[in-house]
Amino acid sequence: MTTGKVLYEVKNVSKNYGSVQALTGVSLKLHAGEVIGLVGDNGAGKSTLVKVLSGAHQPSEGVVELDGEERRWDSPHDALVAGVETLYQDSGLAPHLSVSSNVFLGREKFSKGLLGKLGFLAQKDMDRIAHENLEKVGIAVPQSNRSVSQLSGGQRQAVAIGRAVSWASKVIILDEPTNHLGARQAGEVLAVIQQAKKRGLGVIFISHTLPHVLQVTDRIVVLRLGKIVADAPTSTFDAESLLGTITGLIEK
Ligand SMILES: Nc1ncnc2c1ncn2[C@@H]1O[C@H](COP(=O)(O)OP(=O)(O)O)[C@@H](O)[C@H]1O
Ligand SMILES: [Mg+2]
Repeated sequence: MTTGKVLYEVKNVSKNYGSVQALTGVSLKLHAGEVIGLVGDNGAGKSTLVKVLSGAHQPSEGVVELDGEERRWDSPHDALVAGVETLYQDSGLAPHLSVSSNVFLGREKFSKGLLGKLGFLAQKDMDRIAHENLEKVGIAVPQSNRSVSQLSGGQRQAVAIGRAVSWASKVIILDEPTNHLGARQAGEVLAVIQQAKKRGLGVIFISHTLPHVLQVTDRIVVLRLGKIVADAPTSTFDAESLLGTITGLIEK
C-alpha cells in the first residue's frame, strides 16, 4: 500500500537539448514504499527524466523536491549522497575489479565512515560487508572477492542492482534493469524491487516488458513525446490498455 509521504516530487519539469524538446511540463509524485512504472515508446523521454531525477542533467524549467525541499543537483554525486540511487540503462561495473570493490566503488563517503572506525578497511572486511549488503537485498553472489569478469551477464546485473538498492536510503531509479535477463533472473530483480518497497524506499522502474511493469508497480506513468499522458493506479490497466496508452491508440 502506498500510504507513505511524498518522497520525491517533480514539478512542471521541461528539458530541451537544443531544439529537441525531450520533456514538457512533467509533474509527478513518488511516495515512500511506492513503486512507479515509467513507460513510453523509444524517444518518449524516459531516460531524460531519469537523468533529471538522478542529477545527471538539470531541467531547463521546473524543479525537483526531495522530502519537500527544492533541490538543485549539480552532479549525480549530490543526488547519491542525498539518498537517490540510479541504475542507468547502460551502467556497467568495472569488470577487472572484484564484486566487493564494485560495491564500494564511488562510495568514498560511506567507506570513509567505516575507515574512521576501523582505521583501514581490510579487504576481508570489504568482502564481508559487500556480501552482507547484497544478501540484505536478496542477491546471492557466490564469492564477493571474485572478479566481475568471471560472472555471467545475469549475475553482473544482479550485482549492479544489489549495489544500487543496498546503498539507496530514499529513492531508487532503475532504467530497464530486466533487459537481457532470463525469466528466472528477471524474477529475482522483481523480488529485489518488492523488497526495496518493503523497506520504505520509493522506486521508479522503467521497462519495455509490460508484464513486469504490471506485476511489480503500484502506479504507472506513461510518457509520450515528452509529456505525461497517463498517471494512474496499476490496477486500472491491463496489458492491452497499457500498450494502447503508450502507442496513443487509447486516450486515458
Ligand atoms: N543528449 C541528447 N542530445 C540531443 N537529443 C537527445 C539527447 N538525449 C535524448 N535526446 C532526445 O530526447 C528525446 C527523448 O529521449 P530519451 O529521454 O532518451 O527517451 P527514452 O528513454 O524514452 O527512449 C528523443 O527525441 C531523443 O532523441
Ligand atoms: Mg531510454
